[in-house]
Amino acid sequence: MPYTPAAGRTPLKNKGALVTGGSRGIGAAIAERLAADGAAVALTYARSKDAAEEVADGIRRRGGHAQTIRADSADPAAISAAVDEAAENLGRLDVLVNNAGGGVFGPVDELPQETVDTMIDVNIRGVLTAIRAALRHLPPGGRVITIGSVNADRVPFPGGSVYAMTKAAVAGLTRGLARELGPRGITVNNVQPGPTDTEANPADGPMADSMRGWMALGRFAAPDEIAALTAYLAGPESAFVTGASLTIDGGFAA
Ligand SMILES: NC(=O)c1ccc[n+]([C@@H]2O[C@H](COP(=O)([O-])OP(=O)(O)OC[C@H]3O[C@@H](n4cnc5c(N)ncnc54)[C@H](OP(=O)(O)O)[C@@H]3O)[C@@H](O)[C@H]2O)c1
Repeated sequence: MPYTPAAGRTPLKNKGALVTGGSRGIGAAIAERLAADGAAVALTYARSKDAAEEVADGIRRRGGHAQTIRADSADPAAISAAVDEAAENLGRLDVLVNNAGGGVFGPVDELPQETVDTMIDVNIRGVLTAIRAALRHLPPGGRVITIGSVNADRVPFPGGSVYAMTKAAVAGLTRGLARELGPRGITVNNVQPGPTDTEANPADGPMADSMRGWMALGRFAAPDEIAALTAYLAGPESAFVTGASLTIDGGFAA
């Protein structure tokens, strides 16, 4: 259900935002929410062109501005070019949301090398590459937000070690970058969702009942709930929040 802001409440008016991996799930919800808050939005995808276009069309139908860019976050040249393209087409880049990512779960000594490499390339190197490129454009007041995972802090099942490692890496990157970019007036934060109902982790999937059992609230998040925290971090009210990993997990880590 797309979020409708209170009449006249557009805290991101005149801002440009890039969301990586915006063709579905959490990234699509974030793109929709930032657009509803007034931002002109670019969203990347790797494979799902039609789904990405559908998200952008929906934003435009509701009066927002959206464009799509194909860029595989495993490819540093592609992600770097996508950041520059977004900044040029939007006229400015104020907010970078690193959302593209994912996990493959299994025993660490059985995961194929290629699977391990892809998780590291997308979840860590892709995030770092996008940030390095965005720093060519982000003005004072800029925002860097990464979608990490509660699994950086808690992994209550075997098979999640590589994914947890990649998400812990972005938590560390967030702290270091906050120190580096504070003097430039740019904040850097990491959103750590718990189980969220998406194609990657459906609320009716094989592990879903176990996950609900690990949570204080006993339910999955809707992508819109993760988007709401991200929108807060993207907006003017969060100006004093930086270097933080903010967990939004229904009590998964409690
Ligand atoms: N769902 C959860 O329970 C959960 C919990 C904690 C954290 N997270 C994190 O939240 C983020 C989004 O997860 P999700 O559940 O929304 O996943 P999802 O439903 O699988 O959607 C992933 C999105 O990212 C894009 N994407 C994937 N790999 C990409 C790549 N190499 N380059 C560019 N785009 C890529 C996909 O587009 P294409 O189809 O075009 O590749 C899609 O738009 C991930 O970083 C994930 O680790 C999710």
